[in-house]
Amino acid sequence: MLTKSLKFLNDYYQALNSEGQDVMQGLTQTPKSLPPKYFYDDRGSELFEQICELPEYYPTRTEALILQQYADEIAQMTGACELVELGSGSSTKTLFLLDAYQKLTNYCRYIPVDVSRGIVESTVVKLQQKYPAFFIQGLIGTYEQALAKLESTFAASRMIFFLGSSLGNFNAQECNMFLKQIAKTLQVGDYFLLGIDLQKPKEILEPAYNDSQGVTAAFNLNMLSHLNWRFQGNFDLNLFTHQAIYNQADAQIEMYLHCQKSHRVSLEALNLEVSFVDGESILTEISRKFDLANMQQQLEIHGLKTLNTWTDPQQWFGLILCQA
Ligand code: AVI
Repeated sequence: MLTKSLKFLNDYYQALNSEGQDVMQGLTQTPKSLPPKYFYDDRGSELFEQICELPEYYPTRTEALILQQYADEIAQMTGACELVELGSGSSTKTLFLLDAYQKLTNYCRYIPVDVSRGIVESTVVKLQQKYPAFFIQGLIGTYEQALAKLESTFAASRMIFFLGSSLGNFNAQECNMFLKQIAKTLQVGDYFLLGIDLQKPKEILEPAYNDSQGVTAAFNLNMLSHLNWRFQGNFDLNLFTHQAIYNQADAQIEMYLHCQKSHRVSLEALNLEVSFVDGESILTEISRKFDLANMQQQLEIHGLKTLNTWTDPQQWFGLILCQA
């Protein structure tokens, strides 16, 4: 497993290097932006795990409560199947699903997919101990790479799941492409379980992305450290500050790094030198907030028919189970 994963990791880093093009493009356009995938080096993934524990960051615990309550129902609806989790992180919420499938079947294959090698490897070791009868096979890579790989591997029945409202970090076009790829990867009768953050007042949303302990700020700034390391850059983290705002019209949180002083930054590996002016911003992430009925229509367009939906009592977060 490890050799295979390491090969995948190599492919991933090669792809990432050629993808430095997206950094170049984002930093040379006005307004500047950076792709959110660069949050997730090992340190970024650790910080994200900390964000999930924050009192202000409701999505993780709300989704966990829904899963805790309904995992058995989900497992009964799909029956035994191969489980593939995109963006698995440390798979904490997944335990509810794995427990439910363990009650249903004594053999199950679980494939956690994540870009962070450290997290995938530790998760595989931890879960293999907890579920000795299951076959746990980690995949290190981007969603696109993982889906392309899965398309060529056979499973009698499969459920891909994408939790935590990570879909919200895609713009409308990327979201469409992603759902298209999911539909292409699934065979007729396979399942897709999607967790989405629902629209709610700004007063709840903004604190969730501007937490009082500054963990989200550290997460946002860490992207610059990651770029420094990956592309031999010289971003000075002290010259940028974090802010997240809710754009009500587009129903999305927008996360920015604001430059505090005019200066120049170079990224040697990209042969790039960029000027920043005092007060200028880099958009590092959008986090879209969805409408449950609307999302079901979108899934339907891709041939994914909703079997059931579940929410929490406040209707802050939604889970949709659909079938290809
Ligand atoms: C991974 N993703 C769903 C998170 C979100 O809420 O959009 C990323 C995040 N960014 C800041 N806090 C959390």
